[in-house]
Amino acid sequence: MPTATAAQLSSEAARAFVERSHGLLIGGESVAAADGRTFETIDPATGEPICAVAHGGAADVERAVGAARAALEGPLRKVSASKRAGMIYKLAELIKANGDELAELESLDNGKPLASAKGDVAASIAHLRYYAGWPTKIEGETIPVSGRDLFVYTLREPVGVCAQIVPWNFPLLMAVWKISPALAAGCPLVLKPAEQTPLTALRLGELALEAGFPEGTVNVLTGDGETGAALVDSPGVDKVAFTGSTVVGREIGAKCGRSLKRVTLELGGKSPNIILADADLEAAVKGSFQGIYFNSGQACNAGSRLFVQAELFDEVVSRLAGFAAEAKVGPGLDPESQFGPLISEEQFARVTGYIDSGLAEGAEAVAGGLPEGAGNGGGYFVNPTLFTGVSDEMKIVREEIFGPVLVAQPFESLDEVAARANDTEYGLAAGLWTRDISNAHKLAALLKAGSVYINTWGAGDPAAPFGGYKSSGIGREKGHHNLDAYLETKAVFTQL
Ligand code: NAI
Ligand code: MG
Repeated sequence: MPTATAAQLSSEAARAFVERSHGLLIGGESVAAADGRTFETIDPATGEPICAVAHGGAADVERAVGAARAALEGPLRKVSASKRAGMIYKLAELIKANGDELAELESLDNGKPLASAKGDVAASIAHLRYYAGWPTKIEGETIPVSGRDLFVYTLREPVGVCAQIVPWNFPLLMAVWKISPALAAGCPLVLKPAEQTPLTALRLGELALEAGFPEGTVNVLTGDGETGAALVDSPGVDKVAFTGSTVVGREIGAKCGRSLKRVTLELGGKSPNIILADADLEAAVKGSFQGIYFNSGQACNAGSRLFVQAELFDEVVSRLAGFAAEAKVGPGLDPESQFGPLISEEQFARVTGYIDSGLAEGAEAVAGGLPEGAGNGGGYFVNPTLFTGVSDEMKIVREEIFGPVLVAQPFESLDEVAARANDTEYGLAAGLWTRDISNAHKLAALLKAGSVYINTWGAGDPAAPFGGYKSSGIGREKGHHNLDAYLETKAVFTQL
């Protein structure tokens, strides 16, 4: 019998997937957790369980890491670079062929509108295709050394077994961002999806097997933070890649400091978005609206602090409030919905707590709040919310909310806004809207952020690096920058 939640799916394949049992994917097999534990993944539009999923524990971590090690030292090592490239490309093709199933599973499990889930599928395909080009281009160097008769060259080798821990906001896409460079470099991996959204990662693991990767190359360990922590602690892991909260990222970074595992971290943000007086107003307002409310504000690079040059402030605020009033918030699988629910009861409580704190600190809510029935079995919906009358010290201005909440503030000069924009512990993204090319590049240089968007928000490409300054992380994803994180460099010296 299909469950009530699965019955919403129109893809036969997605429904069949939900109805199956969901084990851990270890060494090419779907297996129950060693202690038999499971957890339920929840439909955030209704608060109802979708299905049960295996809950990996410490014993399962060792099994998965062992399977990855066996692949690295066995069959994976024997796969040539061009064969590896072919497998990565095949995985992209398989995602394309199963795109409707993946998008529906994602929309159900995460709550995002189906159209957004389809966008994530398309971006996943593009990402894999980009990295499919790399295995055959990983080259060492010959080094001219002085003084002695030495022939010196470098080898670029896979870093080893990778632990990859991803969040729930873009479940499939973040998993693909992680596995693509690892596979391109020839590394086996254990992927730990978020407990809120395990489904598409499990399907991705199956498709990786179908694409021809040897058993044990892609292992998927479903579970929660404890599962993730056990994975980070495993002595068999050589490299950790994490996307998630800054709190957990600091802890993982500290652990990797002690064990000297290689680590990359993609963490939180409180990204400034600046509209200058000479901006194309319509484009700036539309882009800024999407920049914060896309994915219901659950994006690490959300443009959550809006600075508007004083003379435009009232106009921009009233246009944004107008868009917010018209926004359609609803279940992801409803084609009318522009914005889905928040991911969980916990996130709903966190975001509504911030809205209450803003009001208590004296900010003015010019748009937003909760739709009727939200939170009480009516799904975790929050309307696009906009605060004005805020000061730089308020909690809603300083802390990452990770929900559809924007704070808007006026500013006078370029130097002033650059200083205020940078007055944050974070540095993931920043944006600006202007027709003045000189001011644009002046500001782009001043802003301390890993991505700067000029007259757009959230643009990206598999080839372009993405990552954070300051507490927003360490290292870069995407492009050749991320490939480097999965390679060791060995210098070989021969006496001639
Ligand atoms: P989280 O950082 O706790 O979870 C992210 C991933 O890490 C999940 O797979 C989780 O199971 C795992 N994890 C949790 N604790 C761990 C530990 N001690 N060791 C290893 N892995 C661990 O994030 P959470 O609790 O879901 O969200 C809290 C806040 O974090 C959000 O409100 C938001 O501000 C931020 N966040 C940022 C994200 C980003 O894209 N930068 C994504 C998700 C959350
Ligand atoms: Mg957490």
